[in-house]
Amino acid sequence: MRTHYCGELNTSHLDAEVTLVGWAHRRRDHGGVIFIDLRDREGRVQVVFDPDTGETFATAERVRSEFVLQVKGRVRRRPEGTENPDLPTGEVEVLGKELSILNTAETPPFHLDDDTVSEEHRLRYRYIDLRRPEMLDRIRLRARVTRELRRYLDDNGFLDIETPILTRATPEGARDYLVPSRTHPGEFFALPQSPQLFKQLLMMSGMDRYYQIVRCFRDEDLRADRQPEFTQLDIETSFMDEDEIMQHAETMIRELFDAVLGVRLPDPFPRMSWAEAMKRFGSDRPDLRVPLELVDIDDLLKDVEFKVFAGPANDPEGRVAALRLPRGCELTRKEIDEYTSFVGIYGARGLAYIKVNELARGREGLQSPILKFLPDEAVDEIMKRTGAEDGDLVFFGADRAHVVNEALGALRVKLGEDRGLMEGEWKPLWVVDFPMFEHDQGAGRWNALHHPFTAPREEHVELLDSDPGACLSRAYDMVLNGTELGGGSIRIHSTEVQTRVFKLLGIDDEEAEEKFGFLLNALKYGCPPHGGLAFGLDRLVMLMTGARSIREVMAFPKTQTASCLLTSAPSEVPEAQLRELNIRLRKPVEKETQS
Ligand code: AMO
Ligand code: AMP
Repeated sequence: MRTHYCGELNTSHLDAEVTLVGWAHRRRDHGGVIFIDLRDREGRVQVVFDPDTGETFATAERVRSEFVLQVKGRVRRRPEGTENPDLPTGEVEVLGKELSILNTAETPPFHLDDDTVSEEHRLRYRYIDLRRPEMLDRIRLRARVTRELRRYLDDNGFLDIETPILTRATPEGARDYLVPSRTHPGEFFALPQSPQLFKQLLMMSGMDRYYQIVRCFRDEDLRADRQPEFTQLDIETSFMDEDEIMQHAETMIRELFDAVLGVRLPDPFPRMSWAEAMKRFGSDRPDLRVPLELVDIDDLLKDVEFKVFAGPANDPEGRVAALRLPRGCELTRKEIDEYTSFVGIYGARGLAYIKVNELARGREGLQSPILKFLPDEAVDEIMKRTGAEDGDLVFFGADRAHVVNEALGALRVKLGEDRGLMEGEWKPLWVVDFPMFEHDQGAGRWNALHHPFTAPREEHVELLDSDPGACLSRAYDMVLNGTELGGGSIRIHSTEVQTRVFKLLGIDDEEAEEKFGFLLNALKYGCPPHGGLAFGLDRLVMLMTGARSIREVMAFPKTQTASCLLTSAPSEVPEAQLRELNIRLRKPVEKETQS
């Protein structure tokens, strides 16, 4: 139906007779001449209809926004002074000779150029929203990304293998989406939170190198970078250690950025231990573009009167840390109050600070509501450790370590953004040396920091019994600009170690057999050493396109309350269908209030 895309026309096509198809982006009538901006996937071009074309002109007069058209005409140079430098086709226009209306359109719910439309409205009419050039660009870039990733993996001997969607619960720590079985009344499939166990089984099957671009399902609280249904680039290999796997993963990402964005990422990516990341940045996914760091000061505050500091300073699970903000004296009282509320989101009960007006004047040169509680030596040492200079401000966090880390870790990034402190555009790193387990105070038990199939460091296997908290794993996370892009590990390939880890996690033999019997069995029949990782594809594309949320890089995302506004899913189902599944609903249906 077409000879060219609208968006590809330029001066090299002058005088060409072309046939175009697309949507009427805008129609303007100018003193007897009709201009239609015709738009297709590749862009738009101006089509001109002169009154002397009779019937064609009459048809053009009937055109409204989003009508679907076919135009035949000749490409010509726009008259001098009417070029549009903002448009790739802006030097040319098409003189329309024939026009067919392929389809009409009702007045669309919003115009494509309107950037004030609510996200709800955009999601409800996603097929119109997706017509907007920035959406098209992101979807196109996403396709380019998957092509490059596939190319790398195909070239390096990884086999693309599919795994089941109707399966059993997989332990990635979120709630499962369940699917009732008709043929087995009262039983349910779970949708995979990841293909973790299947990819390990593929290694046990001798597939050697596997990958899959695969949908994962997790019923968890949603955020800008979390969707209930999202896509992983999932990878697993046999007979590679962590260095070899990380080497492949970062080479793939480097080649991707170079090919798609023309960006050179560092070679190699820096590596940082989990402990260092938590200490310096309060986060296991530090944004290294922000040049601010947390500084420990517990040792200086054990004996001070100020209980807010002395308490956590003397608590082995507590932390007191300082965060210096260069030129922070500029902050107003109101701004400091806003930052105090901000850290409150993370559970911090306050945000003490010292303004450093003039160091040389000692105490006199400092300004702070807490200064009176702190002895000179402590204040001096805090100034020294943080490297404070005149005009700076030092923030303090004091609480249980995880609260301080989350609060100051988030504050650090927020200050970096608000105060324009970001350095460099792309800062990838590997976070390594994760602990195997974290202790859940409330439940009084250990949880796997990664997942229960992650191997402990060989020299730490004995700590499984004596000191689980000190046991480090062979896991690694790739972090880019403060986002966890992907993570993985070397897996346990010994039945004995796997059983011990299950025990520690409170999974007894019976439960292990019931839930993971197939895996434990497979481990017995010649399981190769293996490991892998999975990337969050949506997050990767979000970062590469500069989008604010992964919803902006998914064609049909769900809302914050995990529903689809376009199709109105989830929805009620007919009684007969429930009966067939042997399901009876409790009445009345307890509906959660949805915002
Ligand atoms: P993990 O749970 O860390 O590891 O997931 C891997 C990556 O997937 C992305 N991700 C998400 N993206 C969008 N929405 C979500 N709800 C969501 N949850 C996770 C993140 C994350 O880094 N099986 C292991 C991998 C392995 O060990 O090989 C796994 O799933 O970018
Ligand atoms: P208060 O003693 O509650 O008046 O607090 C004095 C100062 O300490 C205020 O600036 C509070 O914001 C701050 N503050 C209180 N609790 C904490 C905390 N847990 N961590 C850091 N600063 C705090």
